Amino acid sequence: MKIYTYPDQVLKTPAEPITEIDEDLQHLIDWMIETMYAAPGIGLAANQVGVLKRVIVFDRQPREKGRDPAVLINPEIVLGESQIKWEEACLSVPDFSAEVVRKAQVKVKGVDRHGNPLDIEAEDLLAVCLQHEVDHLNGTLFIDHISGLKRALYKKKLKKMLKQQEEKG
Ligand code: NI
Repeated sequence: MKIYTYPDQVLKTPAEPITEIDEDLQHLIDWMIETMYAAPGIGLAANQVGVLKRVIVFDRQPREKGRDPAVLINPEIVLGESQIKWEEACLSVPDFSAEVVRKAQVKVKGVDRHGNPLDIEAEDLLAVCLQHEVDHLNGTLFIDHISGLKRALYKKKLKKMLKQQEEKG
């Protein structure tokens, strides 16, 4: 699946809650997991593949080798505690990373791909990842959390990259 990148409008648009867990959704989830690992990434929200539905996929053990994919449908952060600063990057914001302040521990509620309630308690990298992915569903990117100056630097860099791509044909 194609991964949409900034400044595509689909990344700024809040996704709609999922009301039916059907076969199309199962295919979407499979494709998203495949796309995430192929990128490679540790999390992916449906907005990033151009689908405005509230579903995220992520790896439960993002630091380990091997794969432990998980799915949350209609995820909601219900609890967040203490703060952590983390250097973030995003498949939709190529060639850029920046420090973002997040909650260090979160509890996220949702349902799994079979419609069963799923609560996830996470800390550090996984907590950051879950907040980042839920942000995507709300139309927010990590660069929306950084200073205007840093964001302007990224936009300048992006302009230059796009120009270079154009020149290459
Ligand atoms: Ni992202």
